[in-house]
Amino acid sequence: MQSSVKQQLLEAFSKADGEFVSGQALAEILGCSRTAIWKHIESLRQEGFELEAVRKKGYRILTKPDKVTENEILIGLQTEWLGKEILALDSTPSTQKEAHRLAQEPFKEGTIVIAEEQTAGRGRMTRAWHSPKYTGIWMSVLLRPSLPPYKAPQFTLITAVAIVEAIMEVTGLQPEIKWPNDILLNGKKITGILTELQADADQIHSIIIGIGINVNQKEFPDELKEIATSLAIEKGEAVSRSQLVQEILKKLEGYYEEYMKEGFANIKKCWEKYALSIGKKITARTVTGTLHGKALGITEEGVLKLLDEEGTIHDIYSADIEI
Ligand code: BTN
Repeated sequence: MQSSVKQQLLEAFSKADGEFVSGQALAEILGCSRTAIWKHIESLRQEGFELEAVRKKGYRILTKPDKVTENEILIGLQTEWLGKEILALDSTPSTQKEAHRLAQEPFKEGTIVIAEEQTAGRGRMTRAWHSPKYTGIWMSVLLRPSLPPYKAPQFTLITAVAIVEAIMEVTGLQPEIKWPNDILLNGKKITGILTELQADADQIHSIIIGIGINVNQKEFPDELKEIATSLAIEKGEAVSRSQLVQEILKKLEGYYEEYMKEGFANIKKCWEKYALSIGKKITARTVTGTLHGKALGITEEGVLKLLDEEGTIHDIYSADIEI
């Protein structure tokens, strides 16, 4: 099926919101015969959509396949611009790498790159990011804010707030943020965020937010077992990845627009509400050494303030935190 035809068909079902759409109405929307509609419906079934057909009523979608293809994301996506342009891949070394390539060309703000599997997923500090097929959300979001590069760390925090709220909305679970970029459930990591830039000294050209979420893994390799978990393990049932992507994009668009209009103050408050480490004794391992003390909070720029035992306050720009 041509992708534009499929998109129109899925949009019609999306508007119907679970109700039946008659074959005649679909034929009019698509400008084709009812026999052609029947063939299109069959090819949606081949892709894993479950559709009900009732005489005199028409068709309705019962369930969508849990894939993160362009259509699964677009149908029901409630954003104005974020995620309207999607590069969905079955397998790629890293969505981050693909997004950097796209950022070299003129791209539409809010373009996303998403993959079912990454074969060389990257985390912070050149660590590997385990990204097995069909189980997680491996996605990079391209933005082009007109801002100086020192503002970039705020995007990690904005994204973390959007993801926490999206997870709460979709699963009812209550994740916590560990500065700067980890989201945890019951002390184990479910999400990592990797914010990267293409910029010159004064101006961001593009910002690429890499999001990795463990959604439906049932188990982890030995080296990750103690530190990582998935939403499905914590909730005890599978979670729809496309629904979660849609919710993240909706929240992220809202917070991004708020940030560009009104600044960081309100988002900082939300971040602090979900943050695990604030007010607690922490150990911060930075590239220059290890610090122990109390996490006081974050600055407007997203820098962590740590009060050590001698009463000195340190600004921490990047570190691994232990609580
Ligand atoms: C971290 O916690 O170290 C950050 C992990 C970021 C992983 C995501 S998955 C999608 C995107 N593509 C990558 O290769 N990395 C990011």
